[in-house]
Amino acid sequence: MATILDGKAHADRMLEAVRQGVEARKAKGLRAPCLAVVLVGEDPASQVYVRNKAAACAKVGITSIEHKLAADTPQAELDALIDQMNADPGVDGILVQLPLPKGLDSKEALHRISPAKDVDGFHPMNQGLLLEGLPGLRPCTPTACMSLLAHHGVELKGLRAVVLGRSEIVGKPMALMLLEKHATVTIAHSRTRDLPAVCREADLLVAAVGRPGLVEGSWIKPGAVVVDVGINRVEDEALAAQIFTGEPKKLVALRTKGAVLCGDVRFGEAMLVASAVTPVPGGVGPLTIAGLLTNTLMAADQNR
Ligand code: GUN
Repeated sequence: MATILDGKAHADRMLEAVRQGVEARKAKGLRAPCLAVVLVGEDPASQVYVRNKAAACAKVGITSIEHKLAADTPQAELDALIDQMNADPGVDGILVQLPLPKGLDSKEALHRISPAKDVDGFHPMNQGLLLEGLPGLRPCTPTACMSLLAHHGVELKGLRAVVLGRSEIVGKPMALMLLEKHATVTIAHSRTRDLPAVCREADLLVAAVGRPGLVEGSWIKPGAVVVDVGINRVEDEALAAQIFTGEPKKLVALRTKGAVLCGDVRFGEAMLVASAVTPVPGGVGPLTIAGLLTNTLMAADQNR
C-alpha cells in the first residue's frame, strides 16, 4: 500500500511558518502583510475560494481586503482598481480571482498587476524569472507541491517526471520547477499519443488536467510518487462506479450527498501501485492557499 501524502498537514506547517514570519515583522515594528483579492461576478466556486482565502489570512495574521465587483464591470473599471492597488503602499499582494466573467480580458488584468505584488506568480515578468531559474513570485500550487515533495524527502535529481497538463497555473510552472531540481521532465497533455505509456515511464507523476479519474492504476509505474492536482466534482453514478474501485465510502457519499470530490487519478487503484499518493480532498487543495500566503509574506518582506 502506498503512503498517503497529507497535504492538509503540510499546509498547516507552511501556514505556521507564515504566522511566525508575520510575528517577526511585528517584532521589528512593521505592519502585517496585506492581501487584496478581487472577485468579479458571482461564480459560486470562486466565492468559496475567496472566502477560504480570507479565513486563512485571518488565521496567520495577514490583513485581507476584498473587492467585489459586478459581473458586468467594464474592463476600464477593473484596470483602474488594479492601478489603485498597485499604487497603494498598504497593499502587498494582489489577486484577481479567475475565471473572470465573459467580456473581461484576464490576461490584460493579470499583466497590469505590479510584478512585485503578483502573489499568483502569473505576470510575464515573474514567469520569465522562473524560466531563468531566478527568484521571484512563483505560482502557488506548483510551489507548494514542490515544498510537499521536499518535506517527504523525494529526491528529484535524475528522476523521470511526467507532468500531465500544460496550464500556465500548474503544468508549465511545475515542469520548470522540477527541471530546476534536475528531474528529466515530460509535459503530456490531451493530444499526447499513447498517454498511458508515457505516464508509465514516470517515477513522479503530476496530474493536473481536471478530468476525474483519468489516470488508472495501470498507467502508474510501480513504486512511483503520484501528485494529484485535480479537484473534480463527480455526480454521475456510472462514472463513479468505474473510478472509485476500492473506495466504497466515496460511492456511499455520492448517494447521500449527490456529488463527491475526485482527483484526476483513481486513488484506490493508485494506492495499490504507487509508493506515495496525494489524496483528494486533503492533498494539493489545502496547499494552494498556503502557497498564496507564503507569497504574500514574501512580497511584503521584499516591498518594505
Ligand atoms: N482560480 C482558480 N485557481 C486560481 C488561482 O490559482 N489564482 C487565481 N487568481 N484564480 C484562480
